[in-house]
Amino acid sequence: MEHDIKAVTHIDNVKLSEDRSAVIIIDQTLLPNEVKYISLTNDKEMWDAINLLQVRGAPAIGICAGYCIYVLARQFDTEDYDEFLRRFREEKDYLNSSRPTAVNLSWALGRMEKVVTDNKGKSVQEILTLLEEECLAIHQEDIAMCRAISEYGLSLIHDGDGILTHCNAGPLATSRYGTGQGPLFLAKEKGVNIHVFADETRPLLQGARLTSYELSRAGVDVTLICDNMASIVMKNGWVQACMVGCDRVAANGDAANKIGTSGVAILAKYYGIPFYVLGPTSTIDMNCKTGGDIKIELRDPEEIKEKFYAKPMALPEVKCYNPSFDVTDHSLITAIITEKGICRPPYTESLAALFK
Ligand code: MRU
Repeated sequence: MEHDIKAVTHIDNVKLSEDRSAVIIIDQTLLPNEVKYISLTNDKEMWDAINLLQVRGAPAIGICAGYCIYVLARQFDTEDYDEFLRRFREEKDYLNSSRPTAVNLSWALGRMEKVVTDNKGKSVQEILTLLEEECLAIHQEDIAMCRAISEYGLSLIHDGDGILTHCNAGPLATSRYGTGQGPLFLAKEKGVNIHVFADETRPLLQGARLTSYELSRAGVDVTLICDNMASIVMKNGWVQACMVGCDRVAANGDAANKIGTSGVAILAKYYGIPFYVLGPTSTIDMNCKTGGDIKIELRDPEEIKEKFYAKPMALPEVKCYNPSFDVTDHSLITAIITEKGICRPPYTESLAALFK
């Protein structure tokens, strides 16, 4: 297999169709076996795509939601502002209900809604033009943010380091380089030698299916491990830093990310390894005072018992608890890396300073 870093970091995972009638995404549930683009043209397809993780990763969900509400708004077929706003809010609330934890979803939809409410005096056609500009801007800004986050993250990596990562926070979850895994692609591009341990990330295997796929296609030295192997690779002295993405960061620095992340942070603390959370400021929710305010998505038990297995691996009557995210306590986080810089404890001060 040819390694082509640009093919990985510049992949179009979410985009608008040329005629603006659809949102086109890579169906991430089919990876790594098939790269298939699908078209989303109605609200049900859009809601399902987010809910079923065909498009996933906090920033990618936000970008996709911006495009989705724009495509839907074009279908309203009214020149009446009040009717337009009513239907816009209806669709916004519907899309927003697809997944609860990643704040980027409501953040992007809120930005789009603000375009409508700020331009009440304009015609619906003019508002549609502004909405198009806004969703394209959300995407462009994410590209710039990911690059900046990757640069800051890379400044914390040394030649020869082993980096452990969890879930997928690379190009597929964002745009271009990614957040939690952005520095790893940039390291490759700049000739910094690193070795990556990718947790497979049960139960939906984003680490195995997406992260190890992206890194190995880009030519990054990556080793896939099961989640319960993180401790041994740390104990062996093979990990010099952990880098992960985030779905919502509270004002005190508590960070929600894929289930299992907090366990990695606890292990890192025990072994004296720095634990870095990387994400754009759009993932910081200053309305959440602590991680206790973050709603954690619960998903279908089938994902644990049956998905990816030829036959069910537990009896039908066995109960499952399947939280999709956990919250890493701020005391376990060495630094939170945003596009605006590297925040260190106390996070109540360093995060607040980002929004001044
Ligand atoms: O359930 P997922 O796959 O959407 O969860 C994704 C994660 O937890 C990512 O680490 C997070 O969204 C950051 S993506 C840059």
